Amino acid sequence: MSEGKICPDAGEGGSPAALGRVPAPADPIPVSPIPAVNVASVPQRSPLRYPGGKTWLIPHIRHWLKGIEPRPKLLVEPFAGGGIVSLTAVMEGLVDRCLMVELDRDVAAFWHAALRHGPELCEMVQDFEPTREAVDALSRQVPETVLEHGFRTLVLNRTRRGGILAPGASLSRYGESGKGVASRWYPGTLKKRFSVIGGCGQRIGFSEADGMALLEVMAGSLGDNCVLFVDPPYTAGGKRAGKRLYAHNEVDHGRLFELLADGKTDFVMTYDRAPEIEALVRKHGFHVVQVEMKNTHHARIYELVITPRPVFVH
Ligand SMILES: C[S@@+](CC[C@H](N)C(=O)[O-])C[C@H]1O[C@@H](n2cnc3c(N)ncnc32)[C@H](O)[C@@H]1O
Repeated sequence: MSEGKICPDAGEGGSPAALGRVPAPADPIPVSPIPAVNVASVPQRSPLRYPGGKTWLIPHIRHWLKGIEPRPKLLVEPFAGGGIVSLTAVMEGLVDRCLMVELDRDVAAFWHAALRHGPELCEMVQDFEPTREAVDALSRQVPETVLEHGFRTLVLNRTRRGGILAPGASLSRYGESGKGVASRWYPGTLKKRFSVIGGCGQRIGFSEADGMALLEVMAGSLGDNCVLFVDPPYTAGGKRAGKRLYAHNEVDHGRLFELLADGKTDFVMTYDRAPEIEALVRKHGFHVVQVEMKNTHHARIYELVITPRPVFVH
C-alpha cells in the first residue's frame, strides 16, 4: 500500500468512519506523506488567481522534479490555466524550460500579452482604477490587440468572484475588507510578478492549443528529458466543478489516461476523487496518493495525485 497502487478489495472490513478516522471516502488510497500546503507559504508566481489553481501542490512538484536525474530539460503543461506549476518549475531551476498549453482564448491572450508585452501590461496595470463601472466597461469592450485582450482577462480574473472567467461568472461583491471589486487588485504585486516572468521569458513557452491534440501528436515522442504536469478540468464521473469554472471543460478522461500510459514520459497528474478516475488508475497500473484539502467553504475534499511510478511514498 505504501506505493500507492489502488488495491481493489482493501476497503473491506472496517470503514474509516467505523474506525473513528476522518470520513475519507471508502478507501484504499494512501494519503500522501506531503500535506497540502497553506497557499500563503508558497511564492505566488502567477498574476492570475486561477480557479482550481495548484499552488497547494507545489511541495509535491518540488519533491517530484528534484528526484529526477538528470534534471529534466522541459516541463510540458497541456492544461495550463494560471500556470503556477510551470512558472515555479522554471523560476526555481527545477527544469530548464516549460511549455504551457491552454485552449481558452482569453487565458491564452493573457499569456501572450504577459510574455510578449510585459512592460506595456505593467503600465496598464498601474494606470487602471478598478471601479465597478470601469470593470463593467472593460468586460463589454471588444479588444483589438492581444495586449488589450490580455489586460481585459487579467482585470476580469482579478475582479470576478473566485477568479472565474467562464460565462455566467459574477463580480466579487464584498471582497477583502469590503473593498468589493478592487479587493484583489494589487498593482505593485502584479507588476513584480510580470517583471519576474519577463526575466525568465526566454525559458517560458506558451501555445494556444488543444492540450489533448498536442498529447495525441507528441505523447509518444517527448523523450527522456521531458516531463508532463497534467491538470485537466475535473468533469469525470459527472462532477460539475470543471463545467462551472472553465469555458473549455470537455475532456476524454479515458483517452488522456491511455495517452499517458502509452507515452512513457514521466508525469504528475491531478484529479479530484471520483470512482471513474480510480478505475482508470487501476486499469493502467498507475500509482496514486490522496491529499486532503479544505475547499473555500472549509469542507474537507480529497484530491488525487497520480504518477506512473511510486513518487510520493512514506
Ligand atoms: C484545472 S485548470 C488548470 C489549472 C492550473 N493547473 C493552475 O494551477 O492554474 C484546467 C485548465 O484546462 C483548460 N482546458 C480545458 N480543456 C483544454 C484543452 N483541451 N486543451 C488545453 N487546455 C484546456 C481550461 O481552460 C483550464 O484553464
